[in-house]
Amino acid sequence: MSDRNDFNDEDSNRSPNPTFDSVLTSRLNRRGLLLGGVGSAVLTACGGGGGGGPAFPIIPPAPTPAPAPGPAPAPAPAPAPTEKLLGFGAVPKSLADSVLIPAGYSATVIYALGDPLTGTTPAYANDGTDADFENRGGDHHDGMEWFGLGADGKRSDASIDRGLLAINHEATTDETLSSFFLHADGGTKTLPRPAAEVDKEVAVHGIAVLEVRKDGAGKWSYVRNSAFNHRVTPLTEIDIAGPAKGDALMKTKYSATGVKTRGTLNNCGTGKTPWGTFLTGEENWVNYFTRAAGDDAARGNDKSVTSLKRYGRAAGATSRHGWETAGADDKYQRWNISKTGASTDGSDDYRNEMNGMGFVVEFNPYDKSKLGVKRSALGRYAHESVAFSKPVAGQKVACYMGDDARNEYFYKFVSDEVWSDADANPADPLATGAKYLDKGTLYVARFDADGAGTWLELSMANPAVAGYAGYPFANLADVVVNARLAADAAGATKMDRPEWCATNPANGEVYLTLTNNSNRRIEPASSSQLVPDPANPRVYTDMKGATAQSGNPNGHILRMAENGGNPASTGFRWDVYAFGAESGANADTVNLSKLTGDQDFSSPDGLVFSRSTGICWIQTDDGAYTDVTNCMMLAALPGQVGDGAKKTLTYQRADSTQYTVDTMIGKQPTADTLKRFLVGPSACEITGLCETPDGKAIFVNIQHPGENTKHADIADPSKYTSQWPSNAGYGAGKRPRSATIVITKDDGGRIGS
Ligand code: FEO
Ligand code: CA
Ligand code: CA
Ligand code: CA
Repeated sequence: MSDRNDFNDEDSNRSPNPTFDSVLTSRLNRRGLLLGGVGSAVLTACGGGGGGGPAFPIIPPAPTPAPAPGPAPAPAPAPAPTEKLLGFGAVPKSLADSVLIPAGYSATVIYALGDPLTGTTPAYANDGTDADFENRGGDHHDGMEWFGLGADGKRSDASIDRGLLAINHEATTDETLSSFFLHADGGTKTLPRPAAEVDKEVAVHGIAVLEVRKDGAGKWSYVRNSAFNHRVTPLTEIDIAGPAKGDALMKTKYSATGVKTRGTLNNCGTGKTPWGTFLTGEENWVNYFTRAAGDDAARGNDKSVTSLKRYGRAAGATSRHGWETAGADDKYQRWNISKTGASTDGSDDYRNEMNGMGFVVEFNPYDKSKLGVKRSALGRYAHESVAFSKPVAGQKVACYMGDDARNEYFYKFVSDEVWSDADANPADPLATGAKYLDKGTLYVARFDADGAGTWLELSMANPAVAGYAGYPFANLADVVVNARLAADAAGATKMDRPEWCATNPANGEVYLTLTNNSNRRIEPASSSQLVPDPANPRVYTDMKGATAQSGNPNGHILRMAENGGNPASTGFRWDVYAFGAESGANADTVNLSKLTGDQDFSSPDGLVFSRSTGICWIQTDDGAYTDVTNCMMLAALPGQVGDGAKKTLTYQRADSTQYTVDTMIGKQPTADTLKRFLVGPSACEITGLCETPDGKAIFVNIQHPGENTKHADIADPSKYTSQWPSNAGYGAGKRPRSATIVITKDDGGRIGS
């Protein structure tokens, strides 16, 4: 190892943390709330801040509860209510098996894995005996969006006490094949898999839509028997739209004309369109498919082999759960993407089945009778969130998307149509989705030196794509289905795992989390390793106990500003908003944003700007700093691209020559602009956030607590690495469950103040 930036991360230099008293208060507050007793009392006391009436302002800061105006005349306007964003006390790093939030806040679990979504589905026993997951909460809650409901049961963007949550259920907790917490004895670790186990495992994937309400006492809960509640699973029929619809690449035994597929899978980040629909991103879907060892030859080594390899399914690849072994039924056989049929077009087998996954899928959450639609024009890759530019009448609409894998890319789609304000609340939302998302141009980002950047077009109009020697593209359908290959051809910048992106409502700038990358080196030892570049500039070694973690183990957050503020621009400026790091790490080489102990984080992933407060919520999915702290959520009030300075990083090669890279670092965060707000329970990830329009309730997902539990320990709850949320008083059994929590402020104020 020739990296110069090694450091020993022994935790001997803790930056100032809250006093013990404030820590204790935070913990007690939270525990009481999650147990229900104290929390209810607090919520009851504070939920009446609006006097029980409807008068919560949508945008202005919350007034502190003040005496009602007396009869005496008020000679002058009262001073504006005081609200200090990020005024809360920072939550310390923690390894406790609980959700920690600041003093003065309350958190309540409202919806967990297995919770019944109908009035007739039994309560969740949480011991592996439960069935009927098509009518229960799915697993691994991830991205989440709020859709307001009015008293008339229709869409209401002003509603603050009733709405729908549309939630991704990404995956399940497994060790070898089986999703062991779902089965009484942990399930099978060998092939073939029993159909009864597989049917449960399939059904916990996909998305859920459920109604939530706040009662008169200010207490939130989901409505178990709401007619809006529903699940979409990997078996639900879905339409294909955009360039890939009906293309030869999409033909399968299920849809010989290539216009439909079944289900959505490994749903990670989310988006909400300007016309009020839900978008879900399909991420690590590739792992669910198997491909026979001899399949390259069976396919005649045609170009599909190039595509399959580029997307991670070389011949002989095994599937994550072995679902294809559960029987002859088509619903199991679809997971085998080997060429087994005699047809020339794939209409008699599932050789093309994987081309039906990897998209952004649009749903109308208010109408469960409508099929979801795969918007193929946005490209096929490991999707995270979808962040829209602010729609401006007469301008094209842009959305931004990351591809989460090491060395993958950052994309933008620009509509052909220009925005019409009449489309903000359309009668047929999915038709509006077709208008803006089926026709347009896909681009991929190249990050250049000195903070410049270029959007590279991915279409047959780009000679680098149309003439690519590595893969002969046939048409635009081929380009979007094989967007990674097109981006290779165009010369995109390989990034440190692009996760969520989000648009800053204050200025339209786009933020992108780059969670980490173990494949950066000063002297690459393999073709998968890259030298640092301006936008991915760090290579260092971080110690996790005795284990060295090399590359960029803590990740960073980029941001970009389109030239001229025009979302359709093909040029932009960028800088790094913040580098993840331990606060004690070398400030000249690793902790470049000089994070303190109240701010330090690792592996940023979820990223959401509040439309109410403007706070940028940063969530982590970390495995690097987890010897010191569980995953967390921070609140940020960032500035803008270019508010910092250029920085030159100098690395030493083994032969003593130097390698330098110039990067652009944003203004150093302060205690007033970046602060830890939440730390989750053991072995979880914090992901997904949405809010009521007044900013006074936020919903956050706790994904896979206890993820690193061993399958063999299923019968011994004392060996589970987490017992959350049952240890917080929620639900039966001790098996850990992914869950949605709601956070409110005890004084009725906005979240993050
Ligand atoms: Fe599902 Fe990239 O996190
Ligand atoms: Ca460390
Ligand atoms: Ca993620
Ligand atoms: Ca992640």
